Amino acid sequence: MMERVIRAFGERFNEPPAFVVRAPGRVNLIGEHTDYNDGFCLPMAIDRALWIALRPRRDDRVIVEALDLGESITFDLGALSPGEASWGQYVTGVAWALPRNGYTLSAWEGVMSSDIPIGSGLSSSAALELAVARAFAAVAGFPWDPERMAQVAQQTENQWLKLRTGIMDQLVCASGVEGHALLIDCRSLSLEPVPLPSGAVVVVMDTRTPRGLVNSAYNERRAECEQAAQRLGVAVLRDASRADLERQSGRLAPVLLKRAQHVITENERTLLAAAAMRAHDAAELGRLMDASHDSLRHDYEVTSATLDTMVACARQQKGCRGARMTGAGFGGCAIALVQAPDIASFIAGVFQAYERETGLTPDIFACRPAAGAGLVGFGETDTAP
Ligand code: GLA
Repeated sequence: MMERVIRAFGERFNEPPAFVVRAPGRVNLIGEHTDYNDGFCLPMAIDRALWIALRPRRDDRVIVEALDLGESITFDLGALSPGEASWGQYVTGVAWALPRNGYTLSAWEGVMSSDIPIGSGLSSSAALELAVARAFAAVAGFPWDPERMAQVAQQTENQWLKLRTGIMDQLVCASGVEGHALLIDCRSLSLEPVPLPSGAVVVVMDTRTPRGLVNSAYNERRAECEQAAQRLGVAVLRDASRADLERQSGRLAPVLLKRAQHVITENERTLLAAAAMRAHDAAELGRLMDASHDSLRHDYEVTSATLDTMVACARQQKGCRGARMTGAGFGGCAIALVQAPDIASFIAGVFQAYERETGLTPDIFACRPAAGAGLVGFGETDTAP
């Protein structure tokens, strides 16, 4: 990927890029639909990423060419408009959000390419936002603060694109740590890197079904959580316990009870999962992942037939410790925790079983926990200013 953007840049501009930036996709190991309830989640950045090779411009103009799509966008920093929803909106949105947070921008041009599947729930959009933010930081020379940049990226989604997403995707994309997942407390935004249990590998299983209902259903779930919290007399569901729920269950309509049940138990499972990871207990982590999927299926109702089938196919295979959907749901990807020696047979077995059951061809690959967004090449490999 890096070579591809550097080569394309050279062909286009007849010189090497001044900067190359990279921002990863992510999977969430556990802690789903908890971030907007101020709860806990445990995502990891993965070794699939979006890359931009770029150089500064002297005028006010930003030009980005998406090599994979054969499309490009051009805009002036002084004249931003939301326009039509497309990948370009994420770029202009970051250029809109950064100055609102006190950053002075300067212009650049470049080419980008990505091996994060688009629209599969692996946060290709958070990767785009953070890569663009990293590009602006490089050309304007402002210090790179991953946590603030994650918040800028979230503002881009919430205020520019009008998508009510939480902070998880942007935070792990900005702050990921190689070899680790991040336990995120979405209230304090404190982060704790926790290592993947030794000998366990995370496998991504893309159902190859679109996440059609995802935006409307996501907003509906958020509203239900707010109502449930109100009925329970707490500001957010993070503040409600299992005991509160049992005591006050009569005050909640059945559907709100199920939503609250998921969030409260998922927060518990996430903390237990982090403890299991610290203890290198892959079996326990896998059990918690299974329980998370079942809760998302029955209580939160955000899985889909293909996600349930994929998870069932995974659980049948030798070496599978646990499997669950990942991300918002309604299609997209599931993940499995698999013992390293069984990876090849696991992937082949799930592929065949899923294809047989659904008639669809999945995309299945092992991934590794990667570092967050950064400047690469030219001697810099970290997220330092
Ligand atoms: C999407 C959102 C996240 C989070 C997950 C569900 O990925 O962008 O903020 O809410 O769904 O856990």
